[in-house]
Amino acid sequence: MRDRDKALCEAIELTPYAEQELIEARKESEGISDLERARRFLVQAMMAINGVFGKEKGGFSYTDSYTRNGHDARVNRWNNLPKRLKAVVDRLKSVRIENKDALTILKRFINRPATLVYLDPPYLGDRANGYTWDANDEEYHTKLLNLANQANCMIFISGYHNDLYDLLLSENNGWSRREIKASTKGSKGIVQERIEVVWVNKHYTTALATQALPIELTEKEAYQDKVNPERQFTLDL
Ligand SMILES: C[S@@+](CC[C@H](N)C(=O)[O-])C[C@H]1O[C@@H](n2cnc3c(N)ncnc32)[C@H](O)[C@@H]1O
Repeated sequence: MRDRDKALCEAIELTPYAEQELIEARKESEGISDLERARRFLVQAMMAINGVFGKEKGGFSYTDSYTRNGHDARVNRWNNLPKRLKAVVDRLKSVRIENKDALTILKRFINRPATLVYLDPPYLGDRANGYTWDANDEEYHTKLLNLANQANCMIFISGYHNDLYDLLLSENNGWSRREIKASTKGSKGIVQERIEVVWVNKHYTTALATQALPIELTEKEAYQDKVNPERQFTLDL
């Protein structure tokens, strides 16, 4: 998108939503141009169930039940891709993206009450199968949740039922817990019913109830246009 946005969008527009395209996109890619590599990447991400790469590839993704704009919903999604890629570019222009360990980032925001942290960690438990890259051991999650328990900022966590999470994100520690029924489709197309769990800390619960940020700015802070200043809070980090 950075170097050749028009050519890439045109290549996508000229690619039909076709199973054979997925098969071709998975073939040997040595010697192909960067543009063609990008097109094949998008075909693999968008035309396979769950966009799965690697050894356990997903089959061709289609729906016999849903339509969007008068087309098979997947076809419509593919046809909208150029527009959506541009929307992604625009959206990313208004954020700052960091590449650091979650504990490091969380420590930086823990004393800023006007911050809302959304934590979506790799899942512990049976969903963790197949994750090989992530910090996914109990020790790491314990550190993360202990830190979340000391936070002076608002925190929202999503995951699945897990004894460690229930133990550490308890009502006694000020957390509210809600279960949401969801279904996920594996790369082989098998639907599984799952119960997602979200935990909300006391600072966020209060903010939601009062519809107010849990911070009062000093005159000086307001004058300086600060929105997210620190509040001193002794932490044993
Ligand atoms: C459940 S996914 C979150 C998905 C994300 N919310 C989204 O919608 O795309 C967990 C993410 O945590 C990342 N992750 C794993 N270990 C991490 C660590 N130590 N610090 C920060 N991120 C980590 C993984 O790479 C993965 O992208």
